[in-house]
Amino acid sequence: MIEVLVRGGTVVTADSMELSDVLIREGKIVELGLELETDGLIIDASDHWVMPGGIDTHTHLDHPIERLGVRTADDFYVGTIAGACGGVTTIIDFSLQAQGESLIKARDRRLAEIEPDSVIDYSFHTIVTDVNPESIKEIESLVEAGFPSFKIYMTYGDKKVGDGDLLTLLEEVATSGGLAYLHCENDCAITHLIERHLTRGETGPQFHASSRPVAVEAEATNRAIMLAELAGAPICIAHVTSEAVARHVEEARRRGQPVVGETCPQYLVLNDSVYDPTVGFEMAKFVCSPPIRGIDQVEALWSTVEDGVLQQVSSDHAPFRYEGQKTGGRGDFTRIPNGLPGIETRLPLMFTYGVKAGRISPSRFVELTSTNPARIFGMYPNKGTLDIGTDADIVIVDPEKETELDPACLHSAVDYTPYQGLIVSGFPTVTLSRGEVIVEDGEPIVTRGRGKVVERQRIDPNSLP
Ligand code: URP
Ligand code: ZN
Ligand code: ZN
Repeated sequence: MIEVLVRGGTVVTADSMELSDVLIREGKIVELGLELETDGLIIDASDHWVMPGGIDTHTHLDHPIERLGVRTADDFYVGTIAGACGGVTTIIDFSLQAQGESLIKARDRRLAEIEPDSVIDYSFHTIVTDVNPESIKEIESLVEAGFPSFKIYMTYGDKKVGDGDLLTLLEEVATSGGLAYLHCENDCAITHLIERHLTRGETGPQFHASSRPVAVEAEATNRAIMLAELAGAPICIAHVTSEAVARHVEEARRRGQPVVGETCPQYLVLNDSVYDPTVGFEMAKFVCSPPIRGIDQVEALWSTVEDGVLQQVSSDHAPFRYEGQKTGGRGDFTRIPNGLPGIETRLPLMFTYGVKAGRISPSRFVELTSTNPARIFGMYPNKGTLDIGTDADIVIVDPEKETELDPACLHSAVDYTPYQGLIVSGFPTVTLSRGEVIVEDGEPIVTRGRGKVVERQRIDPNSLP
């Protein structure tokens, strides 16, 4: 492979921000410094920021929702192209264990699905839905094979794992060197609140939100943290939406427990005015779990991102088309597929509402969207930073260039964006994956299936950010 020189940019990492060239050979960074030379390809990055590629550890591509007979609208090809155009160079998606299925078979099935299609590097969290002696035994093998994270749902129909099984899983994850990634909402409370709404004839999308209030999320988060403490397991709390939840994470960390917390741009940029009933059924575009919170929570959540209470921002990209998918829930909000598209807009939204708005520094932006995800999920330092010997996964951004968000300028198969009309900066002009240009002038130039599985390490609870 020819050499590539990214010349004249401002290199931003989680620790520093300085003018530097980046020399790449065989997909790895071989030199950083000023006035470097090459006979190979030169990319002019003057007046641009050069940052580690985004790592999105929470995507649901080609993800089935069996109860509703739908799959997320982006397959591994379309979804990873959208990611690359939004500056993402690595994803961790999910392999979903069917009832009675082996965890390893579920992982292999997913690898066979992604391998021909992904244009960026990837791995999977294993969603454990059927806790039995065989699946428990497989956890250690998966950790050793480079798949050390396990997604556990405390609600969500047949994906739900009860407290006893959760504790068993957490104990095994702890002894195997893994990490549990938890969707925390109180299932009984949600069921109760949904039934109350439906018996009153309250069937519109806004009642999705009122059946999943903050207390539902905070209670389950606290329970998960306590069970993890009993088991001695490191955990990551997925998609934290509110201050009360973040405070549970903060208190656990203060006690020295290996707990990290994630939030997502939708909880930082949107607020519950999206569930204004005068909008009509189109509110369904914003139905996700946990739901979007009130403006007071949004401001408080920003503080937790700024001051280090939460450690990472992922997308929870769960894209469903409005026409034909979300509309399946007309007349019954429980039949609206849950989730928002976001793989392509995560970095621009965090750049605009975080860095440009003066809430976070450029280095904190890199930490939240790339370095910490790599650290938490066993990929650091090969991914998540720019240093000699690391993969040359790089985004080059013109910090002054603005784009108006509209589905026409995005690459997902979804027919809407929750961020319609917002003006953002932070889209990459160039994305490099292992030294190869995969986005140029904002347009994808990719070979289908070029992405590779990332070898992840076991999780050391003491080196979590
Ligand atoms: O509404 C959401 N977030 N859907 C995706 C499934 C999940 O992780 O909760
Ligand atoms: Zn979730
Ligand atoms: Zn999710």
